[in-house]
Amino acid sequence: MDWGLRNRLSRILRPEDGRSVMLAADHGYFLGPTHRLEDPRQTLLPLLPFADALMVTRGVVRNCVDAGTQVPLVLRVSGGSTVVGADLANETIITAMHDAVRLNASAVAVSVFVGSQYEHQTLRNLARLVDRGTEVGIPVLAVTAVGKELEKRDARYLALCCRIAAEFGAHFVKTYFCDGFEEVVAGCPVPVVIAGGPKSGTERDALRTAFRAIREGAAGVDMGRNVWQSDHPVPMIRALRAIVHEGATDEDAFALFTRLKQPGHLQPV
Ligand code: R5P
Repeated sequence: MDWGLRNRLSRILRPEDGRSVMLAADHGYFLGPTHRLEDPRQTLLPLLPFADALMVTRGVVRNCVDAGTQVPLVLRVSGGSTVVGADLANETIITAMHDAVRLNASAVAVSVFVGSQYEHQTLRNLARLVDRGTEVGIPVLAVTAVGKELEKRDARYLALCCRIAAEFGAHFVKTYFCDGFEEVVAGCPVPVVIAGGPKSGTERDALRTAFRAIREGAAGVDMGRNVWQSDHPVPMIRALRAIVHEGATDEDAFALFTRLKQPGHLQPV
Protein backbone atom coordinates (compact mmCIF):
# COMPACT_ATOMS: atom_id res chain seq x y z
CA MET A 1 0.00 0.00 0.00
CA ASP A 2 1.43 3.32 -1.05
CA TRP A 3 2.31 5.98 1.53
CA GLY A 4 -0.36 8.44 0.40
CA LEU A 5 -3.08 5.81 0.53
CA ARG A 6 -2.00 4.67 3.98
CA ASN A 7 -1.82 8.27 5.14
CA ARG A 8 -5.37 8.98 3.93
CA LEU A 9 -6.67 5.81 5.56
CA SER A 10 -5.01 6.80 8.84
CA ARG A 11 -6.96 10.06 8.79
CA ILE A 12 -10.16 8.00 8.99
CA LEU A 13 -9.15 4.99 11.10
CA ARG A 14 -7.29 6.86 13.81
CA PRO A 15 -3.67 5.68 14.20
CA GLU A 16 -3.96 5.62 18.02
CA ASP A 17 -6.45 2.75 18.02
CA GLY A 18 -7.24 1.90 14.39
CA ARG A 19 -10.85 2.92 14.94
CA SER A 20 -13.25 5.50 13.62
CA VAL A 21 -16.51 7.26 14.34
CA MET A 22 -17.70 8.06 10.84
CA LEU A 23 -20.77 10.18 10.32
CA ALA A 24 -22.89 8.94 7.40
CA ALA A 25 -24.91 11.64 5.67
CA ASP A 26 -25.01 10.46 2.07
CA HIS A 27 -28.63 9.29 2.22
CA GLY A 28 -29.92 12.02 -0.10
CA TYR A 29 -28.32 10.35 -3.10
CA PHE A 30 -31.13 7.81 -3.20
CA LEU A 31 -33.63 9.00 -0.54
CA GLY A 32 -33.84 12.73 -1.33
CA PRO A 33 -34.42 15.12 1.60
CA THR A 34 -34.34 12.51 4.35
CA HIS A 35 -36.01 13.39 7.66
CA ARG A 36 -33.69 15.65 9.67
CA LEU A 37 -31.20 15.82 6.80
CA GLU A 38 -33.33 18.25 4.81
CA ASP A 39 -30.68 20.94 5.37
CA PRO A 40 -27.38 19.05 5.56
CA ARG A 41 -25.36 22.10 6.57
CA GLN A 42 -27.54 22.74 9.60
CA THR A 43 -27.66 19.06 10.58
CA LEU A 44 -23.94 18.44 10.20
CA LEU A 45 -22.39 21.60 11.62
CA PRO A 46 -22.75 20.75 15.35
CA LEU A 47 -21.73 17.12 14.74
CA LEU A 48 -18.53 17.64 12.76
CA PRO A 49 -16.31 18.37 15.80
CA PHE A 50 -17.07 14.83 17.01
CA ALA A 51 -16.75 12.93 13.74
CA ASP A 52 -13.53 11.23 12.63
CA ALA A 53 -14.81 11.28 9.05
CA LEU A 54 -17.83 12.50 7.12
CA MET A 55 -19.46 10.35 4.43
CA VAL A 56 -21.30 12.49 1.87
CA THR A 57 -21.74 13.07 -1.87
CA ARG A 58 -19.88 15.75 -3.80
CA GLY A 59 -23.08 17.82 -4.02
CA VAL A 60 -23.30 18.04 -0.25
CA VAL A 61 -19.57 18.66 0.11
CA ARG A 62 -19.61 21.63 -2.26
CA ASN A 63 -22.87 23.15 -1.07
CA CYS A 64 -23.11 22.32 2.61
CA VAL A 65 -19.62 21.81 4.07
CA ASP A 66 -17.15 24.60 4.79
CA ALA A 67 -13.94 24.14 2.79
CA GLY A 68 -12.03 24.96 5.98
CA THR A 69 -13.27 21.79 7.64
CA GLN A 70 -10.63 19.50 9.10
CA VAL A 71 -12.91 16.45 8.99
CA PRO A 72 -11.69 13.86 6.46
CA LEU A 73 -14.19 13.18 3.69
CA VAL A 74 -15.36 9.76 2.58
CA LEU A 75 -16.92 10.58 -0.75
CA ARG A 76 -19.91 8.52 -1.87
CA VAL A 77 -19.21 7.88 -5.57
CA SER A 78 -21.76 5.19 -6.50
CA GLY A 79 -25.41 5.79 -7.25
CA GLY A 80 -27.89 6.09 -10.07
CA SER A 81 -31.01 4.55 -8.53
CA THR A 82 -33.53 6.00 -6.13
CA VAL A 83 -36.05 4.85 -3.59
CA VAL A 84 -38.86 5.53 -6.09
CA GLY A 85 -37.12 3.76 -8.97
CA ALA A 86 -37.17 0.16 -10.13
CA ASP A 87 -34.21 -1.29 -8.19
CA LEU A 88 -31.84 0.36 -5.72
CA ALA A 89 -29.09 -2.07 -6.68
CA ASN A 90 -28.70 -0.69 -10.20
CA GLU A 91 -25.75 1.55 -9.36
CA THR A 92 -22.90 2.91 -11.42
CA ILE A 93 -19.97 5.20 -10.61
CA ILE A 94 -21.32 8.75 -10.48
CA THR A 95 -18.19 10.71 -9.57
CA ALA A 96 -14.83 10.65 -11.35
CA MET A 97 -11.75 9.87 -9.31
CA HIS A 98 -10.14 13.15 -10.33
CA ASP A 99 -13.08 14.97 -8.74
CA ALA A 100 -12.47 13.03 -5.54
CA VAL A 101 -8.85 14.23 -5.71
CA ARG A 102 -10.05 17.81 -6.32
CA LEU A 103 -12.25 17.57 -3.22
CA ASN A 104 -9.31 16.24 -1.20
CA ALA A 105 -11.29 13.11 -0.34
CA SER A 106 -9.62 10.79 2.14
CA ALA A 107 -11.54 7.82 0.72
CA VAL A 108 -14.25 6.98 -1.78
CA ALA A 109 -17.26 4.77 -1.07
CA VAL A 110 -19.08 2.38 -3.38
CA SER A 111 -21.99 0.03 -2.70
CA VAL A 112 -21.95 -3.60 -3.76
CA PHE A 113 -25.21 -5.53 -3.97
CA VAL A 114 -24.09 -9.15 -3.69
CA GLY A 115 -26.73 -11.68 -4.69
CA SER A 116 -28.84 -9.10 -6.50
CA GLN A 117 -29.58 -8.81 -10.19
CA TYR A 118 -26.84 -6.17 -10.27
CA GLU A 119 -24.18 -8.15 -8.42
CA HIS A 120 -21.79 -8.28 -11.39
CA GLN A 121 -22.21 -4.61 -12.27
CA THR A 122 -21.68 -3.36 -8.72
CA LEU A 123 -18.69 -5.63 -8.14
CA ARG A 124 -17.19 -4.26 -11.35
CA ASN A 125 -17.80 -0.76 -9.98
CA LEU A 126 -15.77 -1.74 -6.92
CA ALA A 127 -12.96 -3.28 -8.98
CA ARG A 128 -12.67 -0.23 -11.23
CA LEU A 129 -12.70 2.08 -8.25
CA VAL A 130 -9.91 0.15 -6.52
CA ASP A 131 -7.83 0.38 -9.70
CA ARG A 132 -8.40 4.13 -9.99
CA GLY A 133 -8.01 4.72 -6.24
CA THR A 134 -4.72 2.82 -6.20
CA GLU A 135 -3.41 4.99 -9.04
CA VAL A 136 -4.02 8.20 -7.10
CA GLY A 137 -3.57 6.95 -3.54
CA ILE A 138 -7.19 7.11 -2.40
CA PRO A 139 -8.56 4.18 -0.36
CA VAL A 140 -11.90 2.57 -1.18
CA LEU A 141 -14.71 1.80 1.25
CA ALA A 142 -17.01 -0.97 0.02
CA VAL A 143 -20.54 -0.82 1.41
CA THR A 144 -22.34 -4.17 1.50
CA ALA A 145 -25.75 -2.81 0.58
CA VAL A 146 -29.04 -4.68 0.67
CA GLY A 147 -31.40 -2.03 -0.70
CA LYS A 148 -34.89 -2.62 0.66
CA GLU A 149 -34.18 -6.26 1.51
CA LEU A 150 -33.18 -5.66 5.12
CA GLU A 151 -33.94 -9.28 6.05
CA LYS A 152 -30.80 -10.33 4.16
CA ARG A 153 -28.60 -9.05 7.00
CA ASP A 154 -27.41 -12.29 8.60
CA ALA A 155 -23.86 -13.36 9.40
CA ARG A 156 -23.53 -15.88 6.59
CA TYR A 157 -24.57 -13.40 3.92
CA LEU A 158 -22.65 -10.43 5.35
CA ALA A 159 -19.49 -12.50 5.83
CA LEU A 160 -19.71 -13.49 2.18
CA CYS A 161 -20.18 -9.87 1.07
CA CYS A 162 -17.37 -8.46 3.23
CA ARG A 163 -14.90 -11.13 2.18
CA ILE A 164 -15.69 -10.63 -1.49
CA ALA A 165 -15.30 -6.86 -1.13
CA ALA A 166 -11.89 -7.35 0.50
CA GLU A 167 -10.86 -9.85 -2.17
CA PHE A 168 -11.72 -7.22 -4.77
CA GLY A 169 -9.30 -4.84 -3.05
CA ALA A 170 -11.52 -2.69 -0.83
CA HIS A 171 -9.35 -1.09 1.85
CA PHE A 172 -12.14 -1.14 4.42
CA VAL A 173 -15.70 -2.38 4.43
CA LYS A 174 -18.96 -1.10 5.82
CA THR A 175 -21.64 -3.60 6.69
CA TYR A 176 -24.43 -4.20 9.16
CA PHE A 177 -24.13 -5.58 12.65
CA CYS A 178 -25.78 -9.00 13.06
CA ASP A 179 -25.86 -11.95 15.41
CA GLY A 180 -22.62 -13.84 14.80
CA PHE A 181 -20.81 -10.65 13.76
CA GLU A 182 -17.47 -12.12 14.89
CA GLU A 183 -17.73 -14.50 11.96
CA VAL A 184 -18.08 -11.54 9.58
CA VAL A 185 -14.96 -9.88 11.01
CA ALA A 186 -12.97 -13.11 11.15
CA GLY A 187 -13.48 -13.75 7.45
CA CYS A 188 -12.56 -10.25 6.33
CA PRO A 189 -8.87 -9.27 6.13
CA VAL A 190 -9.57 -5.51 6.14
CA PRO A 191 -11.21 -3.32 8.80
CA VAL A 192 -14.99 -3.51 9.10
CA VAL A 193 -17.20 -0.63 10.25
CA ILE A 194 -20.92 -0.88 10.84
CA ALA A 195 -23.83 1.13 9.49
CA GLY A 196 -26.67 1.94 11.83
CA GLY A 197 -29.61 1.26 9.54
CA PRO A 198 -33.01 2.91 9.93
CA LYS A 199 -33.68 4.52 13.31
CA SER A 200 -36.19 2.02 14.63
CA GLY A 201 -35.26 1.73 18.29
CA THR A 202 -34.03 3.98 21.07
CA GLU A 203 -30.63 5.60 21.51
CA ARG A 204 -29.91 2.91 24.05
CA ASP A 205 -30.52 0.22 21.41
CA ALA A 206 -28.15 1.91 18.95
CA LEU A 207 -25.45 2.26 21.62
CA ARG A 208 -25.88 -1.40 22.49
CA THR A 209 -25.40 -2.32 18.83
CA ALA A 210 -22.26 -0.18 18.61
CA PHE A 211 -20.85 -1.69 21.80
CA ARG A 212 -21.48 -5.26 20.65
CA ALA A 213 -19.95 -4.50 17.26
CA ILE A 214 -16.76 -3.06 18.79
CA ARG A 215 -16.53 -5.93 21.27
CA GLU A 216 -16.86 -8.39 18.38
CA GLY A 217 -14.13 -6.79 16.29
CA ALA A 218 -15.55 -3.82 14.38
CA ALA A 219 -13.12 -0.99 13.66
CA GLY A 220 -15.83 1.57 14.23
CA VAL A 221 -19.20 2.86 13.22
CA ASP A 222 -20.44 4.76 10.20
CA MET A 223 -23.84 5.76 11.52
CA GLY A 224 -26.26 8.29 10.18
CA ARG A 225 -29.94 8.17 11.07
CA ASN A 226 -29.36 6.87 14.59
CA VAL A 227 -27.31 10.01 15.20
CA TRP A 228 -28.97 12.88 13.35
CA GLN A 229 -32.54 11.60 13.69
CA SER A 230 -32.07 11.48 17.47
CA ASP A 231 -33.62 14.37 19.36
CA HIS A 232 -30.14 14.76 20.87
CA PRO A 233 -27.65 14.19 18.04
CA VAL A 234 -24.57 15.71 19.69
CA PRO A 235 -24.91 13.69 22.92
CA MET A 236 -25.49 10.65 20.72
CA ILE A 237 -22.31 11.00 18.66
CA ARG A 238 -20.33 11.74 21.81
CA ALA A 239 -21.69 8.60 23.43
CA LEU A 240 -20.64 6.63 20.33
CA ARG A 241 -17.14 8.11 20.60
CA ALA A 242 -16.93 6.89 24.18
CA ILE A 243 -17.66 3.34 23.01
CA VAL A 244 -15.40 3.39 19.96
CA HIS A 245 -12.40 5.25 21.36
CA GLU A 246 -12.62 5.14 25.14
CA GLY A 247 -13.63 1.59 25.93
CA ALA A 248 -17.01 2.59 27.36
CA THR A 249 -19.71 -0.03 27.72
CA ASP A 250 -23.13 0.68 26.28
CA GLU A 251 -24.31 1.41 29.81
CA ASP A 252 -21.49 3.92 30.38
CA ALA A 253 -22.25 5.49 27.02
CA PHE A 254 -25.96 5.72 27.70
CA ALA A 255 -25.24 7.37 31.06
CA LEU A 256 -23.03 9.88 29.22
CA PHE A 257 -25.78 10.46 26.65
CA THR A 258 -28.32 11.04 29.41
CA ARG A 259 -26.03 13.52 31.15
CA LEU A 260 -25.06 15.40 27.99
CA LYS A 261 -28.62 15.82 26.80
CA GLN A 262 -29.44 17.90 29.88
CA PRO A 263 -29.44 21.64 29.12
CA GLY A 264 -26.03 23.27 29.61
CA HIS A 265 -23.96 20.20 28.71
CA LEU A 266 -23.52 20.64 24.97
CA GLN A 267 -20.27 22.60 24.76
CA PRO A 268 -17.64 20.96 22.58
CA VAL A 269 -14.88 19.22 24.54
C1 R5P B 1 -25.54 3.38 2.91
O1 R5P B 1 -25.34 2.99 1.83
C2 R5P B 1 -26.12 4.68 3.23
O2 R5P B 1 -25.86 5.52 2.22
C3 R5P B 1 -25.64 5.16 4.56
O3 R5P B 1 -24.37 5.70 4.50
C4 R5P B 1 -25.64 4.04 5.54
O4 R5P B 1 -26.85 3.36 5.48
C5 R5P B 1 -25.31 4.47 6.95
O5 R5P B 1 -26.29 5.26 7.47
P1 R5P B 1 -27.34 4.72 8.53
O6 R5P B 1 -26.60 4.57 9.81
O7 R5P B 1 -28.38 5.79 8.57
O8 R5P B 1 -27.87 3.41 8.02
